[in-house]
Amino acid sequence: MRIILLGAPGAGKGTQAAIISKELNLTHISTGDIFRYNIKESTELGKQAKVYIDKGQLVPDELTIRIVVDRLNKPDCSRGFILDGFPRTVVQAESLDAEMSQKGTPIDYVINIEVPDQVVIDRLSGRRVCLECHAVYHIVSNPTKTPNKCDICGAEVIQRSDDREETIRQRLKIYHEQTEPLIAYYSRRGILQTVHGEYGIEDLNNKIMKVLGVS
Ligand code: AP5
Repeated sequence: MRIILLGAPGAGKGTQAAIISKELNLTHISTGDIFRYNIKESTELGKQAKVYIDKGQLVPDELTIRIVVDRLNKPDCSRGFILDGFPRTVVQAESLDAEMSQKGTPIDYVINIEVPDQVVIDRLSGRRVCLECHAVYHIVSNPTKTPNKCDICGAEVIQRSDDREETIRQRLKIYHEQTEPLIAYYSRRGILQTVHGEYGIEDLNNKIMKVLGVS
């Protein structure tokens, strides 16, 4: 199965992608995680991406598309994948379509997780992440068992540098301008399903699994 998760920053894409990929044995591809890993390792890609990410802007299409196409060509993607944070512009979606049709393996589902902007701000300002294993927490709705320590790998959990309120507002603005048009794009292709994202993590997961026809 090949799935795209669409939605505003903080809609819960990463949280749901982690659960779904485990349940359905799909490869989880998060462009945000790929960029953050490269920033942490101070690679050339990381240095280029950091300039945009810290300002709440999108990394240029050309760079992002190249990374995703490379990733999709890795053997673990042949069993299916879940894309979290890609595509984010119409140009990215068109490139993905071209790549998938060349392979003869079209995207099966695009799940759009819908949440109001104020919920996004509340979620992101309380989010904490583990830079080692990418686990995601929230100081109120999903705290770590031991303060500031990842439940899974024990590494320190931190606030992302782009989760400050001013940067969150900029990311939301960019989402509405550049990513929201993908709702119409995939709706026209007949593969879009919208779910309301204001349920708790487990309830939302149940709703998505139903849409995917696996519960
Ligand atoms: P990326 O890491 O993809 O960030 P994002 O899309 O802004 O999404 P987030 O990770 O902020 O949110 P999410 O929807 O995954 O929510 P989460 O599950 O964490 O990208 C970062 C940056 O990289 C971008 O700004 C851009 O610069 C660049 N980039 C990435 N991809 C790119 C691309 N394709 N093109 C160009 N540039 C790109 O949940 C959020 C919080 O809410 C957590 O604390 C979680 O615990 C909590 N939560 C989750 N679900 C629920 C729920 N159901 N109820 C209550 N709380 C919940």
